[in-house]
Amino acid sequence: MLLIGPSGAGKSTFAETHFKPTEIVSSDDMRAMLSDDAGDQSASSEAFAIVAMLVKGRLRRRLVTVVDATNLHAPARLGYRRAASRYGIPTIAIAFDLPVSVYHERNATRPDRIVGELVVEDQARRMAHELARLKDEDYAAVYVIGEVDLASNVTVERA
Ligand code: CTP
Ligand code: MG
Repeated sequence: MLLIGPSGAGKSTFAETHFKPTEIVSSDDMRAMLSDDAGDQSASSEAFAIVAMLVKGRLRRRLVTVVDATNLHAPARLGYRRAASRYGIPTIAIAFDLPVSVYHERNATRPDRIVGELVVEDQARRMAHELARLKDEDYAAVYVIGEVDLASNVTVERA
């Protein structure tokens, strides 16, 4: 499962609400493991290499796997879909498409890690573009959370 959305969209909150900690593979957690700072971008390439390894290892074991990252780059999404399809496992996209003011508000008040306004602006612009692309990508299902209230009313059923 790919969570897709800008910083402050509520991806990690959603993941923690609906999935076991071991089911969530988070690029921030890996950056934190590497550098003691989840926001340390210099740790990104190693963090994503570890994410890819964990995703592959879990898929090989046919375990539910949630990639908690912005996932705003199509090539990265393709890599995860290919990894899943190698094991015959479907990929589901959950996109968070909220007003940019929501991302800013949440980022301004979050206790953990504040992402800069310009970075968030850029991610929000990219989100609009990537959202349009999702329909051309091969997912078993694409869900778009387009309203703030919707995120807290989602039910996840395991088939
Ligand atoms: N938050 C909130 N209400 C929600 C979802 C999130 O108030 N429905 C708050 C969280 O408590 C957190 C902040 O918004 O303080 C950011 O949420 P988070 O889930 O961490 O956002 P992410 O999308 O994971 O952001 P990032 O990409 O930066 O990890
Ligand atoms: Mg997060």
